[in-house]
Amino acid sequence: MSAARGVGCGKVILLGEHSVVHGRPALAAGLSRGATTDVTASPDGLTRARFVFDTEQVDVLAAEDGEHPLGRALAALLATYSAPPPVHLTVRLELPAGAGLGASAAMGVSVSSALDHFLSVERTPAERATQTLVWERVFHGNPSGVDNTMAAVGGVALFTRGEPLVPVRVRRPLLLVIGHSGEASETKQMVGLVAQQLEREPERITQVFDAIAVLVRNARLALEAGDLRALGQLMDMNHSLLSALMLSTPRLEDLCHAAREAGALGAKVTGAGGGGCMIALAADTDAAHIILAALQSLGAESFVTEVGA
Ligand code: PMV
Repeated sequence: MSAARGVGCGKVILLGEHSVVHGRPALAAGLSRGATTDVTASPDGLTRARFVFDTEQVDVLAAEDGEHPLGRALAALLATYSAPPPVHLTVRLELPAGAGLGASAAMGVSVSSALDHFLSVERTPAERATQTLVWERVFHGNPSGVDNTMAAVGGVALFTRGEPLVPVRVRRPLLLVIGHSGEASETKQMVGLVAQQLEREPERITQVFDAIAVLVRNARLALEAGDLRALGQLMDMNHSLLSALMLSTPRLEDLCHAAREAGALGAKVTGAGGGGCMIALAADTDAAHIILAALQSLGAESFVTEVGA
């Protein structure tokens, strides 16, 4: 094949971020937007990639010991193929980066999918999830695997580290309003912050993780029963526990508060926290637009998305 394209989707964590790194379950959903990669044969014998983001573009060479993490991630992913030919890749990201929406995983999965098409490699979504963990490790150090798994598989699912993904049958699709705090955060740093707390106060932090696991299990039941009100309350409770782990910020608190005041059934930080995005659950389309307007009036870049349709 002389050219090929691949896609990977972003994700939202409905409940269970961070505790998922420590073996507890998380509920997550694939987003319709993510990343797209185009691949062609290399005219110069080198493997290079151009990453096109909202406001900038980055050119890297695939190199294990390269300066740029994107170049190292690309080299790590290429090393999973036997003798890949040199290629040129263009990766376009349709999500904000560093915002808790799984941007790096969406890019990694789109690169893997484009390379597989280009090289005529057959791979199931579950196999792609396993393969792309090497890409995620470059950025996140100790990733649970939830981002790359959701980017490869999509849908709504219960993820537990090291276990097969459990798809969740959602009774009613969810309308989510996603608001960006405008604050950048690094997943690796936030995961490290939680690990430090666990080391210092193992008993208290383990209790928080176990409490989140209970919320996640109940949220799965609420999703299957189509009980959005219960799901919203569980999201609020999860948010309080994430705040107790110091993962919220005054700006994220303001956005969650504004969403609830505007009628959201629940609102919480999503992803790594310390900045990035929050999500709010809306009862219907009209409610979603009222919540959207409330977040936008605070200057937050926001959008409405449906998951589980
Ligand atoms: O912020 P994101 O999109 O990288 O999500 C990270 C989710 C965490 O649970 C915080 C980390 C992980 O590896 O699961």
